[in-house]
Amino acid sequence: MKSLVELRGFSEIKGTEAEEFERAIVNNIVDNGYCLVRGVGTEDFLPMATKLGDIQFHPKADERGVVGEGDSKSNRWKKNANEYIGHKREAISPHTDGSFLNTMTSSGFGLKRVLPPALIVIQCLQDGGSEAPVMNTIVDLSAVLKELKVHDLNVFSILSTPGCVSFFRDDQKAVDVSIFKKNGKGKLHVRYNAGRFMYYPKWSEKAILHFHNQYVLNPRFHQEFCLKRGDIAIIDNLRILHARDEIQLFHSTSARKIRRVWISQKDADFLRNIPSERPTHSVLEDSDSYLPIERNEKNSLLNTDNLGIKI
Ligand SMILES: [Fe+2]
Repeated sequence: MKSLVELRGFSEIKGTEAEEFERAIVNNIVDNGYCLVRGVGTEDFLPMATKLGDIQFHPKADERGVVGEGDSKSNRWKKNANEYIGHKREAISPHTDGSFLNTMTSSGFGLKRVLPPALIVIQCLQDGGSEAPVMNTIVDLSAVLKELKVHDLNVFSILSTPGCVSFFRDDQKAVDVSIFKKNGKGKLHVRYNAGRFMYYPKWSEKAILHFHNQYVLNPRFHQEFCLKRGDIAIIDNLRILHARDEIQLFHSTSARKIRRVWISQKDADFLRNIPSERPTHSVLEDSDSYLPIERNEKNSLLNTDNLGIKI
């Protein structure tokens, strides 16, 4: 395991020891794109996640923004439950979360962007035991990009062109976006989904299939890990693809269970109109299930501007 922070008794540590532990987590995320934290308890999940930034809501999330544990705050997602695949047993192909988010929401006298989350924080509540371990795979697109630029510059250029892909899920769409996008702060952000939510036109098909077969599915770029009960995985969703194997069920073990929160990207541009009128367009309400829960305390451990792929 390349990126691992291990500790016993997270809740008891204080002062400089706690600061060192937190710094190690942040350094691993920024350097390697992810961090696996072992030796923490189930009670450490939300305190650790909220230190990393603002939790971003999800249609399946409970009041706290947690998906996979209690009942969802809203039942709206159940109308199209088939569009939500995280709770199903079948294998999940490499993807970034929220690739279908590219919208805005009304905020005072203007609009704020609603984008894919910066970080995904996952905790294993129940593992499949030794009979039914579930492998998670991550694909580091920072390493992929280095090779793409040397061997397949034209493919990289097509995958960076707006319109090379569109993503749809339930009531959300990200139309005519790109797999790689510069964020204007020296980073590339990635959107990808090797499943049925991503669509592409004829002109980008060859480049996408080459990227998928030669890079995304190439084990050279993969790291695998298996989460045990209590383990937390923190993943830079602007740089890393994640996937998992099928969940097997044996009569002597229970199925593996995880819970998850999203951490939002830092506030992006604020948009206004010429008359300075408060926006009231009903289409903006569709993004309400994905808004960040803003905290009073603004000092996050991590500046999400540091995430993504260094150019
Ligand atoms: Fe995911």
